[in-house]
Amino acid sequence: MPLLLALPLLALLLAPSPPVARAQTLAERLYLNFLPINDAAGALTPPRILFAETPIVVRYTLIGGAAIYDARAACRPHALSFFATNDSVPPAFCQPDNNAILVSYATYRALLREFPAEMNGYADFLRTLGLEPVSSSRDPATLNGWANLAGDRLADFFQNDGWNSLGDRSRENSRIPFEDYTEYRPANSPYDPPFRLTRPLRWVPGQLNLGNGRLAHQIHVVPHLGLTVRPLILSDAHILARRVPAPYRQKNAPRITSRDRARVEQLVNEVLDASATLTPRQRFFARWWDNKLLSTGGISAFYETAGALDDFEVAQQFLGEMLSQHDALVIAWKEKRRHDLVRPFTLVRNLRRRQRFTAFVSEAAGFRTVRAEDWQSLISAQPHSEFPSGSAAICTAAMEHLDTYIRTKMGFVPSIKIRYPTDTLPFFVSEDTTVAFSGPLQAANNCAQSRLWAGVHFSPSLPAGQSIGRGVGKIVFEHMRLLGEGRIPANCTRCRADAAILGG
Ligand SMILES: *[C@@H]1O[C@H](CO)[C@@H](O)[C@H](O)[C@H]1NC(C)=O
Ligand SMILES: *[C@@H]1O[C@H](CO)[C@@H](O)[C@H](O)[C@H]1NC(C)=O
Repeated sequence: MPLLLALPLLALLLAPSPPVARAQTLAERLYLNFLPINDAAGALTPPRILFAETPIVVRYTLIGGAAIYDARAACRPHALSFFATNDSVPPAFCQPDNNAILVSYATYRALLREFPAEMNGYADFLRTLGLEPVSSSRDPATLNGWANLAGDRLADFFQNDGWNSLGDRSRENSRIPFEDYTEYRPANSPYDPPFRLTRPLRWVPGQLNLGNGRLAHQIHVVPHLGLTVRPLILSDAHILARRVPAPYRQKNAPRITSRDRARVEQLVNEVLDASATLTPRQRFFARWWDNKLLSTGGISAFYETAGALDDFEVAQQFLGEMLSQHDALVIAWKEKRRHDLVRPFTLVRNLRRRQRFTAFVSEAAGFRTVRAEDWQSLISAQPHSEFPSGSAAICTAAMEHLDTYIRTKMGFVPSIKIRYPTDTLPFFVSEDTTVAFSGPLQAANNCAQSRLWAGVHFSPSLPAGQSIGRGVGKIVFEHMRLLGEGRIPANCTRCRADAAILGG
């Protein structure tokens, strides 16, 4: 998301909370709420995280979610941790305020190694509440010590998960976190014009304007995911078997051949038709879904209340949702690399070279006649290849998990209704907006469609992404249900009974 859009959200995050009728307990002040975003959630998701690349946000949120889960599971009779260990804590740790402190300290410690700058801000927030997460204690009879053991157990695991999150897989010194170490190379040079590409249906890094004459080109974000990262819940075989068919017949041809020409024309027309007719509602959803913490985070928060989930259930659902996103992401990235296809902004400039057409330009300028060379997607295209849609995969997997969780607990799934006053959103809306869906599955479908409105995907990417996500949420739900009941899921490579924290 451009920095310009980040600023209002920053103001929102920094705005003082409205006065509350009664003083909140410590547990309430530490609770992460994304609807509306409270101080604790704001402190844990600063702009550097909110506007990081989606895979990095997913992984960050997953690690945090695992820490929250472990600190809650230790106080839940029978429940096993993320590693299927039977951890124990002194009974006093399960008093609500103490357990909230344990959750906060464990989250801090789990994320500290890879996100030290972000954790400084979170530590400052905790200090405003009289807490001190920084400690070297390893005594499980203390809150700090237990949290350090639980946090380090997660940090050790995630340090070696194949993401190259510390940059240690690719360099000894001057490390670059999340850098590729599998020699991915784009098929096209970003210096070649869109109408003279080596392989016009393959991905081309876009140009970026960093301001003051500093221009740059995109580098594909974590292209190694599908090769080097193992799934956390699905089997390796499942990941390999999940494939989506190519939308083009001859993606490597040096020219768009007659076998693909009609298809490609139709896909470009769809994107430009959408751009020429974008309704305020479509623009809202394109921007809302682009920010997963706001959208999927908001929907989860809605169901935490609607389903009256207790602290453990909130943590279990949240971790399950993030695990669903993680494994869907690994499949989506495997397929993105395999297909490595061109984004709309490139193909529009190629097929419509020197033509003018009507398109949505900005909220201020509205619809204008623009040259193909100047056309921009509503949301700027992320630095990764086009097919399939990662958002469609992530939303489908996450919303399926949520749907399954709520249906199992309540016996039915209430419809979603979330109202946003105009000044509570990090992007422009002219009036108060209500988000209403029959349930998470309909929401996921809207999420997928919104990527066409955003102008960042062609239509075949949407069902392809959805098919990757489908089924993932249910498998993750079963896995998390077993852990919650004290049973070790079959074939759990991550599960290791020897790593239990015994503090009780
Ligand atoms: C976990 O440990 C507690 C206390 O030792 C015990 O009562 C419980 O049965 C154990 N749970 C499992 C699933 O092993
Ligand atoms: C566990 O792995 C075995 C052997 O690969 C396989 O036959 C079985 O279906 C797997 N079970 C689950 C629950 O994935």
